[in-house]
Amino acid sequence: MTTLAPLPYSVHWDDTHITLLNQQALPSITEFIELHSVDDVYDSILSLKVRGAPAIGLTAAFGVALGAKQETTAELGEFKKNVTRHIEKLASSRPTAVNLFWALRRMENTLQAAQSISTAKEALVSEAKAIFAEDEEMCRKIGEHGLSLFKRGDSILTHCNAGGIATARYGTALAPFHLAKERDIPLKVYACETRPVLQGARLTAWELMQAGVDVTLISDNMAAHTIHQKRINGIIVGADRIAANGDTANKIGTLGLAILAKHFGIPFYVAAPSSTFDLSIESGTSIPIEERNEAEITFIQGVRIAPENVKTFNPAFDVTPNHLITSIITENGIITPDFFKNIPHFVN
Ligand code: MRU
Repeated sequence: MTTLAPLPYSVHWDDTHITLLNQQALPSITEFIELHSVDDVYDSILSLKVRGAPAIGLTAAFGVALGAKQETTAELGEFKKNVTRHIEKLASSRPTAVNLFWALRRMENTLQAAQSISTAKEALVSEAKAIFAEDEEMCRKIGEHGLSLFKRGDSILTHCNAGGIATARYGTALAPFHLAKERDIPLKVYACETRPVLQGARLTAWELMQAGVDVTLISDNMAAHTIHQKRINGIIVGADRIAANGDTANKIGTLGLAILAKHFGIPFYVAAPSSTFDLSIESGTSIPIEERNEAEITFIQGVRIAPENVKTFNPAFDVTPNHLITSIITENGIITPDFFKNIPHFVN
């Protein structure tokens, strides 16, 4: 199996606590923080210390295991009620990435199946570890499928950070580049900075440079010019939730890039594990879009850049309609249109 030597795991279960790579401190400071309670886990998800759909889900799963281990009641019914409260709290942290609810549902099912408190505690830790291990494996496979779409020397544009630090390992949209690097396949990556909170500049540029991948940073408003001038061969992004018809929610700015891809006649790929699909909703119009604090757009790194009291609108995600998507790369293979018809062959 391929190994990714330089990149640290961003989430680690340490039995009495969770260790997290603090993604808010990157790239200036590479620091690991310890989470000792469900409240710590909730705050870390809310404040983007951990972010990226799969990473949010698996951190929340470890959060449930942590909360369960810390319960002191000897009464099974009360134990289950308390752990369910932890699950509900974690579910209220961020609304868009469905991986969170997918992982918490698995933890809830594990909780309800347990016959005693001690078996529940053990089973919840095992389930969270399984979610983590499965994500690592899914991302590796996504990398393999994604890489099959690129040619040596291609220049590919990406947005936000759908990398190893947003998942258990490898990433989704960035997985092909990590694998290409290990196999000495030259690919160039152009990373959009990703306003307002700069996941592209702070995280994707950092992650790919750590791995020795050829990455060039651009600001978001340079995308059209760059696609044209640098002869970009394709765009690849991650996803936070994919509806049954293939409509895809991802970081704000993704929709604009999909429209540009159509204009310039280049492929627009979405890379995501099956845990990112929400087949309970028919189309993207039902995806809840998180709106975040206005300070994210009126300040940059603590410095005010807009007048006080200016009206703001700060959606964290947008929805790309299925007709702008060339294919969706999953661990089970590459899904092409008609997505509504084809998705069930790859995801259930
Ligand atoms: O707000 P964020 O940083 O959690 O948003 C992350 C994204 O939009 C990613 O592209 C998506 O979650 C996929 S991560 C593999």
